[in-house]
Amino acid sequence: MNSILHIDSSILGGYSATRALTADIVAKQQALHPGARIVRRDLVADAALHLSDAHMAVFQGAPVSDPHLGQDLATGGAYLDELFAADIVVIGAPMYNFSIPSQLKGWIDRVAVAGRSFKYGPNGPEGLVTGKKVFIASARGGVYSGQSPLAALDHQESYLLAALGFIGLTDVTIIRAEGLALGDEAKAALAGAKAQIDALAA
Ligand SMILES: Cc1cc2nc3c(=O)[nH]c(=O)nc-3n(C[C@H](O)[C@H](O)[C@H](O)COP(=O)(O)O)c2cc1C
Repeated sequence: MNSILHIDSSILGGYSATRALTADIVAKQQALHPGARIVRRDLVADAALHLSDAHMAVFQGAPVSDPHLGQDLATGGAYLDELFAADIVVIGAPMYNFSIPSQLKGWIDRVAVAGRSFKYGPNGPEGLVTGKKVFIASARGGVYSGQSPLAALDHQESYLLAALGFIGLTDVTIIRAEGLALGDEAKAALAGAKAQIDALAA
């Protein structure tokens, strides 16, 4: 065990539920794996640009003429390198407008790269980022799990599981705090998520 990649994407700073949960997950993993190195990516403090026509042109072989674009391409490359180097990946993923924050979508746009993190073979797509454990800290105002009538509106956990699975990240544990906008349910939801973290084993 060498490296834990700690990613946050909440825009709520010190009030964020997922940021509190990812911090607890990382602390727990550090306790389980003493000496592991923590690599930090705060996608709000330091967001990559949206993919653009300029990015696509460079991917097709055009030269990089804009230094700002060059810097951003280096950031995207670092995202991929960090992901490949990590043994454990901890992702803070709030539900915003039924999906994930655009900052986290921007990260996925940079790590889902044909020929690097996945490839198409005779049996279809094959994920190449294998052998890692992923922990997702999921928080949402409403309740979408179980038999909830809102289940079909969950494009957050379902999307993340699909996108991560596509690049080979299939060993995923979701730590969930939901119903955070529902008054009394919030405290119990957060306590439940923290108990789930406490119970994590190596
Ligand atoms: C911009 C924004 C959009 C949100 N959209 C939803 C939503 O579609 N469904 C929902 O249940 N909660 C929604 N919420 C509530 C958040 O999921 C909830 O506050 C959660 O705690 C956010 O995680 P965070 O505190 O780590 O940012 C939204 C919150 C924000 C700030």
